[in-house]
Amino acid sequence: MKLIQTIKELRATLEVCRKEGKTIGLVPTMGALHAGHASLVKRAVAENDVVVVSDFVNPTQFNDQNDLLKYPRTLEADCSLLEACGAAYVFAPAVEEIYPEPDTRRFSYAPLDTVMEGKYRPGHFNGVCQIVSKLFLIVEPDRAYFGEKDFQQLAIIREMVRQYPFDLQIVGCPIVREADGLALSSRNARLTAEQRVQALQISKTLFASVEYGKTHTLAETKRFVEDSMAQADGLRLEYYEVVDGNTLQTVADWADSGYIVGCITVFCGEVRLIDNIKYKE
Ligand code: PAF
Repeated sequence: MKLIQTIKELRATLEVCRKEGKTIGLVPTMGALHAGHASLVKRAVAENDVVVVSDFVNPTQFNDQNDLLKYPRTLEADCSLLEACGAAYVFAPAVEEIYPEPDTRRFSYAPLDTVMEGKYRPGHFNGVCQIVSKLFLIVEPDRAYFGEKDFQQLAIIREMVRQYPFDLQIVGCPIVREADGLALSSRNARLTAEQRVQALQISKTLFASVEYGKTHTLAETKRFVEDSMAQADGLRLEYYEVVDGNTLQTVADWADSGYIVGCITVFCGEVRLIDNIKYKE
């Protein structure tokens, strides 16, 4: 596995791969890799001849500078994990390499990007589209892999690919959870032992709400989740929305859509955690 830090070297390297007829898979990440990322990389390795993993904490998608400063940076450990997963290249550029000048491009995919994370983190998805589109233009992958934990991000990237249009396949991969149910996230590393126990209530409540929803209305199920979060120690609910999985618009009744997903964001102390659950698919 090779670590590459410049766009020029990455392009030249991938040009050779393409001339040899090899397919290229891309896994965009911000590093601080865990088993969730490993599952994306392993899938990419199984489906492509060559896999590039980008490891870049993208400043333009952080609307909270404190969050950016505290974001874990663990390139050495990331490289060990990626080597074990079979990635061919790790692309870890400096910020100036990606943004030699401010990126003034504006991406707007309303109403997909104006709800949920879009409402609470203004500018976040614009930054995500800036970096992901740059990576697509630099790497020109055949397939790119994203986790379903960032459910809204995945929907917006699919829309960006459709509108641009980029000639590649977006592969969405299921959430990876700890044995006790907590969704894997790079932010989990910032939880204290006590908060780690408290955070477990998020996935527990979501799983319980699937059972609850079988005998209750959607409004009652939404209240069940909101009440459980309000009663949980150490957690503060930012939002819980039950949405159509394609349009991300709020659904009022179980009968209103064939694809219904519950998306939640909760603060555990200062750590902002997101998760989601499928009610209908
Ligand atoms: O999901 C993430 O880790 C980031 O938003 C991504 C897609 C790597 C862009 O920086």
